[in-house]
Amino acid sequence: MSDQSVYPVPPEWAKRAKVNRAGYEKLYGRSLADPGSFWLEQARRLDWIKRPEIAGDWSFDKADFHISWFADGKLNVAANCLDRHLAANGDKVAIIWEPDDPAEQPRRITYRQLHADVCKFANALKERGVAKGDRVTIYLPMIPEAAVALLACARVGAIHSVVFGGFSPEALAGRVEDCGSTIVITADEGRRGGKKVPLKANVDAARKLAPGLDQVIVVKATGGAVAMGDGDHWYHDLLATAEPECRPEPMNAEDPLFILYTSGSTGKPKGVLHTTGGYLVWVSLSHELTFDYRPGQIYWCAADIGWVTGHSYILYGPLSNGGTTLMFEGVPNWPDASRIWQVCDRHGVEILYTAPTALRALMKEGDEFVTRTSRSTLRLLGTVGEPINPEAWRWYHDVVGEGRCPIVDTWWQTETGGHMITPLPGATDLKPGSATLPFPGIDPQIVDGEGAVQTGATEGNLVIARSWPGQMRTVWGDHDRFFQTYFTTYPGKYFTGDGCRRDEDGYYWITGRVDDVINVSGHRMGTAEVESALVLHHAVAEAAVVGFPHDIKGQGIYAYVTLNADETPSDDLRKELVAWVRTEIGPIATPDAIQFAPGLPKTRSGKIMRRILRKIAEGDVSSLGDTSTLADPAVVDDLVANRVG
Ligand code: WTA
Repeated sequence: MSDQSVYPVPPEWAKRAKVNRAGYEKLYGRSLADPGSFWLEQARRLDWIKRPEIAGDWSFDKADFHISWFADGKLNVAANCLDRHLAANGDKVAIIWEPDDPAEQPRRITYRQLHADVCKFANALKERGVAKGDRVTIYLPMIPEAAVALLACARVGAIHSVVFGGFSPEALAGRVEDCGSTIVITADEGRRGGKKVPLKANVDAARKLAPGLDQVIVVKATGGAVAMGDGDHWYHDLLATAEPECRPEPMNAEDPLFILYTSGSTGKPKGVLHTTGGYLVWVSLSHELTFDYRPGQIYWCAADIGWVTGHSYILYGPLSNGGTTLMFEGVPNWPDASRIWQVCDRHGVEILYTAPTALRALMKEGDEFVTRTSRSTLRLLGTVGEPINPEAWRWYHDVVGEGRCPIVDTWWQTETGGHMITPLPGATDLKPGSATLPFPGIDPQIVDGEGAVQTGATEGNLVIARSWPGQMRTVWGDHDRFFQTYFTTYPGKYFTGDGCRRDEDGYYWITGRVDDVINVSGHRMGTAEVESALVLHHAVAEAAVVGFPHDIKGQGIYAYVTLNADETPSDDLRKELVAWVRTEIGPIATPDAIQFAPGLPKTRSGKIMRRILRKIAEGDVSSLGDTSTLADPAVVDDLVANRVG
């Protein structure tokens, strides 16, 4: 994967960017040498109701485990994203909305209009009984009402939990139940690539599984027919009668802002909890520095609001900075593979932030889809979600950016709130495939399996040695799981779950997950989740799921399935199991390969040897290592002989 070439900071970037190389070194040095005054100074970028006098107060040690930032400060996130821009910039465009169907008209929503809708919807939520601290589940497509819904929650101090619109009713119900939310905001239908997604019908199905859910607010997005029953309200009806004035709720910096479910290596997805002050400082600062962002620039983060990238870099980062954020309802390859570049031309996009998986898929379609568009407004490109292979990096740089746009390859996680290791375009020479250097305040270390810190050029597991303002604060409802998951593997440090190499220039190269999380098209999926879905099927006795390299998706899902004794393997059953997983979790969990396995390789104590399963899925059967410790070494021969693909 590694590439030795270096792309120096272009001279005009070194000259004009907010942060140049010397600036980065100074910022970074201060951030670690004197974090207290550094972060109190950074916090001034926000409007506080009460300005904090304390920065970080934390310990990752078991005896005294706690994390807080700006704890004596008070603020409101929606007021920071809206109200404070009104006087000078109320008529500036906050959101450009590009519909799924390019034949339809885009919408341009000013800060004043967005503020007005958020205030009304916040009042509507209050009238529906939503109060500070309540959990509100949001299951919406990529429409401007999604931004209104999140900001309205923030305004009243309710905790939003956004569930990606591609998740199934079962997955939705699980998340609704876990956080105990009684209200869901959804739409009649979503649209993606010309296809409809029956969101309201999914909510109705989820309701049967989550009896605590008693109110549903429905945005009329497509006008498709939906059943409206008890406890269902149309969004537009609520807005029409809501009061226009709504005072933003004063929130303590450590009050929760949102929960976002993400996959881990074990068990059910966990509700990652972010709080108010530290999170907003983090996303606001990182959005400004990583993208060298100046208000007025047209900025497009092509993620979905259902993922953390959408939260931090479609919504909270750009709007807290008074920016113009483009929100795209559609998909990159519909109506054809030119769509992203056409949207860039239609709106004059200057900064584009997307995922390697999208780039690989588009690259495969040929350069002509790109070169027939202008892209003359583009000045900076970004990627996120998974390691980018140098070939895709170079295509992005040379073909999409015509060699003139730096690429910021941003490494971070749902748990980290925002960018952790990333180039700053005016400061950092680039190496294709490397996320380069740590953001101010971030103290990365590479440790070996025993936790010994490695110095110099090395490879191992990536940990973060100190807290930063955007760090998650807990797993909703399970603080012990938070501690166990992230702080016990290497005591006293935050364990990222990623493997990483550091080169002789101190550049970081993320090598991918070292736990049982796989990264499918930039989406995190726990192998345990797919396994649980499979064993729910009546024919399945046991399942083991691993990732394998996939040209477009980065990783694909490979499932080994042992059937119950009275079941017979067949292609029909294989199809049925694929469909089953899609219904249980959602299309993003679709297995790419299912292999029927009479037995799984287990140690004598019954532990499945995933290392062997991974090798077989990868097709690397010559180096299975020592199989003599297995309870029944013969199962391996069968697995190798019947490999799928
Ligand atoms: C991976 C998405 C390499 C990594 C923001 C991490 C990356 C997981 C990069 C988090 C990158 C994200 N280079 N790998 N630039 N960005 N990852 O929580 O394995 O959906 O742990 O957050 O994605 O995924 P999550």
